[in-house]
Amino acid sequence: MELRRLGESGLQVSAVGLGTNNFAGRLHDEGARAVLNEALEQGITFIDTADVYGRGSETGPGGSEEQLGRLLAGRRHRVVLATKVGFSMGEYAFEKGSSRRWIIQAVEDSLRRLRTDYIDLYQLHVPDPATPIEESLRALDDLVRSGKVRYIGHSNFPGWQISDADWTARVEHLARPISAQMHYNLLVRGIQAEVIPACQAHGLGLVPYFPLESGFLTGKYRPDGQGRGRLTESARAGDVMTPANFERIAAFESFAAEKGHSLLDLAFGWLLSQPIVGSVIASASSPEQVKANVAAAEWRLPAEEMSAISAL
Ligand SMILES: NC(=O)c1ccc[n+]([C@@H]2O[C@H](COP(=O)([O-])OP(=O)(O)OC[C@H]3O[C@@H](n4cnc5c(N)ncnc54)[C@H](OP(=O)(O)O)[C@@H]3O)[C@@H](O)[C@H]2O)c1
Repeated sequence: MELRRLGESGLQVSAVGLGTNNFAGRLHDEGARAVLNEALEQGITFIDTADVYGRGSETGPGGSEEQLGRLLAGRRHRVVLATKVGFSMGEYAFEKGSSRRWIIQAVEDSLRRLRTDYIDLYQLHVPDPATPIEESLRALDDLVRSGKVRYIGHSNFPGWQISDADWTARVEHLARPISAQMHYNLLVRGIQAEVIPACQAHGLGLVPYFPLESGFLTGKYRPDGQGRGRLTESARAGDVMTPANFERIAAFESFAAEKGHSLLDLAFGWLLSQPIVGSVIASASSPEQVKANVAAAEWRLPAEEMSAISAL
């Protein structure tokens, strides 16, 4: 497994990571254990979760972290563990966001659920318009200084907020974010305009989420309605499975086939051919999917193929 530095930090992450937003909700212990074991077996060391994952399932928010903590027992030191804070975890207005009060409470809750005394990468899940970024960064800096958190990052920040956060941290001598987690894949490239240039300018690594557009970029969903998985049960199905997207998928598939590759190879290869990308954190429902994803991640596209994809 290739290891990559996350941004300009010294943190090494596996080029293929494991997203766990389906843990607890869609995968009970046995299924999640099989996925996790295969991931470790395949050399995956970067695992991403969030305090809120599990919401909407019988476990409720916190379920993914709890399950991961249970299944990682005795092996926690083998992985780089990333989690997030920001979405609502309770009925009160202060149980969400990025205030000092909530960040310091939320990290204790995550540490307890994950059964660890440190988090490798603690990410602000979404911008919080009600809290000044300096307050959030100062609270995160305290956590880094206390050893509860090793590195900090954020997710879903627009370009100007990435820049604002980095400059605030620099001027105030606080821990600087090392990564941005963003929706990015062959079909969804909106971050190329502002976010990626901001990450490049500030030395952040990019962690693309929905790298497979919830499974659509595996090619298993067909325009005639064939193919079942979490996407067909998701509220996103109507936005993703459009005639235009099926046409784009067909173009990607024939591009990949001409080079002797599959659509899945292209989905991973296109992301990993961009040096800014630290780790591609697809989720998986089975060990077979983990294996397939790791195998798919080997293709590196030369510049002319990357340009051809830009034009598609
Ligand atoms: N920061 C944020 O705001 C944010 C938002 C969303 C997600 N995330 C992170 O990103 C991670 C990945 O997102 P995601 O899981 O929603 O989307 P995704 O990685 O694009 O799609 C993963 C889903 O595709 C299917 N799949 C995976 N590998 C496959 C294979 N080889 N063959 C066939 N099907 C395959 C599986 O579902 P089925 O088997 O059911 O089809 C799997 O759950 C999450 O776990 C989470 O850590 C972050």
